[in-house]
Amino acid sequence: MSEPFDYSGRTVFVAGGTSGINLAVARAFARAGAAVAVLSRSPGKVRAAVEGLRALGGPAEGFEADVRDFDAVATAVAAARERLGEFDVLISGAAGNFPAAAADMSARAFAAVVDIDLKGTYNVLRASYEHLRKPGAAVVNISAPQSTVPMELQVHACAAKAGVDMVTRVCALEWGPAGVRVNAVVPGPIAGTEGMARLAPTPELEQVVTGSVPLGRYGDVQEIADCCLWLASPLAAYVTGAVVPVDGGWSLGGASQVFSDMRRLFTGP
Ligand code: NAP
Ligand code: COA
Repeated sequence: MSEPFDYSGRTVFVAGGTSGINLAVARAFARAGAAVAVLSRSPGKVRAAVEGLRALGGPAEGFEADVRDFDAVATAVAAARERLGEFDVLISGAAGNFPAAAADMSARAFAAVVDIDLKGTYNVLRASYEHLRKPGAAVVNISAPQSTVPMELQVHACAAKAGVDMVTRVCALEWGPAGVRVNAVVPGPIAGTEGMARLAPTPELEQVVTGSVPLGRYGDVQEIADCCLWLASPLAAYVTGAVVPVDGGWSLGGASQVFSDMRRLFTGP
């Protein structure tokens, strides 16, 4: 499928771009003609993602790094810029999650998610700033409804993604004068993803989630990719510091109760 946007001659770097939503975003930019680089920890996932991206016809490169390791991220983005040129688009979406109660999880468990989602996002933006094509570059962070909606079993992700939204807004303020826009997309529950496999692992729990979404269904990875394509394009030239829900209306209310319902289903009242 071709995309309704033309990114030919553009370079896109996707941190965490080797599976799920972020890989769909990387593939959408590749189909729209961009040269795409992806980064994640697993050599196998990086290799498979790059093979798939190259099969779409354009140049693609992959890098192994943990977003918690600033030096490793800085080395990777420098190599990507060397091979593909300055970045027109930066997507930051590496994240980790699991359901766990605040009083039960270890301090290391809380720290792991904050380190990946929040500090990792900062590391990716900080390391990439000097490699962004200015003026005109666009950054899109991948946030989550947890950033604004308190959800049981999600204290780590709520804290981390709230931070991601504020990194988005502050960098939009600071980088606007250089011609760099910084926005975030907030996916709702997205079908076929690792995130929802962890949070709603059975058909019964999926139904509980679906029932809490005003539009009555899970989203599709392409619907998140479409928003990223728009946010990074000239059609969004006056949009910066925005945190855009693409969630079927989930964060209007349903998302706040659903994990309480699921917790009762998991553990009883
Ligand atoms: P996923 O398939 O597990 O994607 C996570 C990606 O990040 C993978 O490429 C993973 O590759 C990489 N990653 C994880 N930890 C990393 C680290 N420390 N350093 C570098 N890369 C790392 O998950 P997903 O469900 O599609 O979620 C993607 C994004 O969407 C996340 O930001 C998530 O918070 C957000 N989101 C998802 C949903 C949903 O319904 N799934 C809803 C709201 C928001 P490696 O394992 O190789 O490192
Ligand atoms: N419940 C409670 N604690 C958990 C947990 C769970 N399901 N999974 C991991 N932890 C704890 C570990 O026990 C450990 O704490 P401890 O040392 O006190 O025992 C801590 O979290 C770190 O775990 P570890 O496996 O060492 O971390 P890691 O850095 O290898 O992996 C995770 C990070 C835990 C976030 C891992 O789930 C991951 O890599 N996720 C990426 C994929 C993903 O989550 N996708 C969905 C994105 S929304």
